[in-house]
Amino acid sequence: MPNRRDLALSAAVVGVTSALAAALALGPAAALAFGAATGVGLGAVLRRPRPGHGDDLALAPGGGATGGAAPTPVRALIATIPSPLLVIGRTGRIAYANPAALRSLPRLQDGTHFASHIRAPAFVEAVAATFADGGERSLEFAARHGAAERVFEARVGLLPPEAGFGREPHALALVEDRTEARRLEALRTDFIANASHELRTPLASVLGYIETLQNHAKEDPAAREKFLAIMAREAGRMRRLVDDLMSLSRIEMSEHLRPAERVSLTAIAGETAAAMVPLAEREGVSLEVRLPAEDAFVLGDRDQLAQVFANLVDNAMKYAGPGSRVRVLVAEPSPAQPGRHGVTIADDGPGIPREHLQRLTERFYRVNAASSRAKGGTGLGLAIVKHILNRHRGRIEIASTEGKGSAFTVWLPRAEEASA
Ligand SMILES: Nc1ncnc2c1ncn2[C@@H]1O[C@H](COP(=O)(O)OP(=O)(O)O)[C@@H](O)[C@H]1O
Ligand SMILES: [Mg+2]
Repeated sequence: MPNRRDLALSAAVVGVTSALAAALALGPAAALAFGAATGVGLGAVLRRPRPGHGDDLALAPGGGATGGAAPTPVRALIATIPSPLLVIGRTGRIAYANPAALRSLPRLQDGTHFASHIRAPAFVEAVAATFADGGERSLEFAARHGAAERVFEARVGLLPPEAGFGREPHALALVEDRTEARRLEALRTDFIANASHELRTPLASVLGYIETLQNHAKEDPAAREKFLAIMAREAGRMRRLVDDLMSLSRIEMSEHLRPAERVSLTAIAGETAAAMVPLAEREGVSLEVRLPAEDAFVLGDRDQLAQVFANLVDNAMKYAGPGSRVRVLVAEPSPAQPGRHGVTIADDGPGIPREHLQRLTERFYRVNAASSRAKGGTGLGLAIVKHILNRHRGRIEIASTEGKGSAFTVWLPRAEEASA
């Protein structure tokens, strides 16, 4: 866990998480340009206080270069910064809150005490300490916001006396809600932990059998056959996992590029399902493709859409199991999906308990991990489907009744809508 100071500094260096940091980190040329544009020397207002602390940007008294004139540009600058900023007087009254602060705390009002809006003791103490010693500080705190607990990162420093808020010193506080960023970081960490775990299990198994073959199973042809078969299966699992991981990362990289090719959703679904008929026969599943001859045009990436249908048909066959019936059909038009084409993959398998439906497209989320693994699953199939559909501005709709079966419907904007 990095300490608070490191967090704040890395935010300043990266310059994306904190608009204040970005503003403070403006190089001399940018500051000059800004000064020229606004008629005030930014360097005089937001100045580095101590030589030798090049990275430790701080708000410091301005040395009087602007002589107390032109108060508006500072306020204007603070107003344009897209991160929440508060200007706080020595008594704790809010002298100014920028629009971003008003958006995140709509009940903020000039003249009210900041601690009635942000009660976290760490923040209240930081403001007091900054008034006491003039130093700048960075901190993190958790606070309730509505029903949920949220995580904030704050930086507090002193504004120079001539910054447009009167002769008294004022504190400038940047208070950013980092909850979403933290959630994404946690997701990434989980993802790496899950992927490593999924790979390590088959790898340990392969290594174990190699050792066995090198030692006591060396002269035992029957054992050798058996162990080699297990090793091939485990290596196959690792290959599927690596293939899915690479697929996912390729799709994520292309996610912002909208596909432009006009392709037929029904034709792709039909061809993909037809190619899986031999597999269905081997599995003892009846695979029925009932799609109309008319094309349903969308703007899409043919290979990626084929991957969507292959994953869904594969799941339906796998989880519904031998003796079941899997159907690929055009979705009933739905008022909830205007302007979209839909294709449904339906099975009469065991269905999925309601409480899992919401999370099914998360990476590595499985209703039953052991059963998924036994069937050769990686837990990434539906995550891949979701990312491909995101790229296509499409959606997946999952309906399932326990004991009756599941229906996965892919909805994509019609080509005419998509190009409009
Ligand atoms: N047609 C289906 N019927 C029942 N459960 C399903 C179906 N499709 C998906 N699931 C559930 O969703 C989970 C995630 O699916 P997926 O992302 O494709 O991973 P995998 O199939 O590799 O486990 C599966 O493990 C299974 O529990
Ligand atoms: Mg799957």
